[in-house]
Amino acid sequence: MKGLILSGGKGTRLRPLTYTNAKQLIPVANKPVLVRVIESIRDAGVDEIGVVIGETGPLIRETIGDGSKFGVKITYIPQDSPDGLAHAVKISRDFLGDDRFVMFLGDNVIQGGISRLIGDFANHDWNSQIVLKEVENPTAYGVAKLRADGSIEQLIEKPKNPPSNLALVGIYMFDQTIWEAVNSIKPSPRGELEITDAIQWLITAGRTVYPHVHKGWWVDTGKATDMLEANSLVLEELTPTIAPDAIIENSHVDRRVTLEKGAKIINSTVRGPTIIGENTIIENSYVGPFTSIYYNVTVLNCEIERSIVLENSTLSDLNVRLQDSLIGRYASVSRNDSRPQAMKMNIGDHSNLWVV
Ligand code: TTP
Repeated sequence: MKGLILSGGKGTRLRPLTYTNAKQLIPVANKPVLVRVIESIRDAGVDEIGVVIGETGPLIRETIGDGSKFGVKITYIPQDSPDGLAHAVKISRDFLGDDRFVMFLGDNVIQGGISRLIGDFANHDWNSQIVLKEVENPTAYGVAKLRADGSIEQLIEKPKNPPSNLALVGIYMFDQTIWEAVNSIKPSPRGELEITDAIQWLITAGRTVYPHVHKGWWVDTGKATDMLEANSLVLEELTPTIAPDAIIENSHVDRRVTLEKGAKIINSTVRGPTIIGENTIIENSYVGPFTSIYYNVTVLNCEIERSIVLENSTLSDLNVRLQDSLIGRYASVSRNDSRPQAMKMNIGDHSNLWVV
């Protein structure tokens, strides 16, 4: 069995962060989502993994390398343009050969790993296994219509009148019958080769597509609000650890806080679940639950809660609490004390700012 991770795409919904970074490299609880995906495939016993990359390929190669630091062997598969999930499968033919494989979207986070799913697929002769999850807004997803016996009758992409609330989650397993499917389908009205169309092709051709309904949480981190949601869910499950060289001085740090190497907490209160990254300094500040602060960040005279701050940023002297915020790399957020008393902004294209 091989693994295939889709890590191309444009990430338009996560702009401006995705102008300069790959969305799969944005960390959730201080670990890039793509690393979480690689680890969950590895933990299921699959160590040969193809990673489809697009424009952000160089950044992904730089971070992941040959995979050896994660105990896997990575093969990169460049995709010239993001022409759809089934297109990404199609161009991975040489890497996958006729092996069975698990395909995982590089921006998805799922609770509980995928070992059982992969075990189930390995022990059955199904042509494909797909993962479904009950969602509140099925019109935004690919949705499955099931027959009375639980098998799949039809898959419909973003249906106006959803036949069920069971959405397709970004994990799929296929055998070599997928090749005929991806070679037979045509681009959808939005110009992409859709994986739902390829799976529908398998169903119509009488292949066995087995649905697994996932009971735990699952987040597709397409938008900033999804990143914050995934961050909260992962932090909730993180086993807290304090690095031996982390410094806590005159501060209150509760039990559910992780401090990474060289983190310093001075005159501050930190409430978990929260993670403070390597060499980050929190001084005269409050860091509330569900916050992930990555490495080399300074937080001085601030309050922050339920947020993600990326590396090398500085937050200082704010007189309102930052909440539900996603702050990029090398960003600086501070108070303007000079006259005239006005807000000053120097923010990138497609940024969002909510002022009080
Ligand atoms: P999407 O979230 O559907 O697409 P996107 O990344 O382009 O984002 P946006 O809609 O905000 O512009 O992609 C899901 C995952 O699959 C993501 O990790 C990117 C990857 N992908 C590819 O590798 N190749 C593709 O052709 C597409 C469409 C997506």
